[in-house]
Amino acid sequence: MFSIWKVSLLFVVTLALAAATIPGKKDRPLLGGWRAVNVTQKDRGLQMALTVAIREHNVASNDKFISVISNVIQARRKIVSGVLYDLTVQTAQTACRKSNSAPENCSENELSRLSRHKKCSFVVYLVPWLKKEELKQNSCA
Ligand SMILES: *[C@@H]1O[C@H](CO)[C@@H](O)[C@H](O)[C@H]1NC(C)=O
Ligand SMILES: *[C@@H]1O[C@H](CO)[C@@H](O)[C@H](O)[C@H]1NC(C)=O
Repeated sequence: MFSIWKVSLLFVVTLALAAATIPGKKDRPLLGGWRAVNVTQKDRGLQMALTVAIREHNVASNDKFISVISNVIQARRKIVSGVLYDLTVQTAQTACRKSNSAPENCSENELSRLSRHKKCSFVVYLVPWLKKEELKQNSCA
């Protein structure tokens, strides 16, 4: 029994060492839990998650007008077999119609005329190497 305990302990220590030595930038999230993302820095991963979230939100909504993200309140991410982002954002409706144009064709004026602010919760699942981009949760109030 004692040796089983020792083997288990060794296993835990090995896992801990492996987790501590995963190479990469110091702010790289470790496997396992949710890690807060600094929303003032808007790193590439966060930027991608926000882009996918609002694009899929617009596809799913019945609104005639395109919505944009006007403020990022909170963000966290978790490494799974890809990356999960849990985002709390404020969205706003623009004066840009969905039917006749994509966001890149909207005038600055239309894009900046914001109304109907909402607080939304988005969960985005990204697997960049498989080009997988999925909006798993999409709820606004
Ligand atoms: C987030 O990043 C900004 C800009 O780099 C920095 O000033 C701020 O202290 C950071 N906030 C946290 C909570 O780390
Ligand atoms: C944007 O407008 C141009 C010119 O009217 C058009 O050719 C293009 O397809 C539009 N882009 C999108 C994504 O709708």
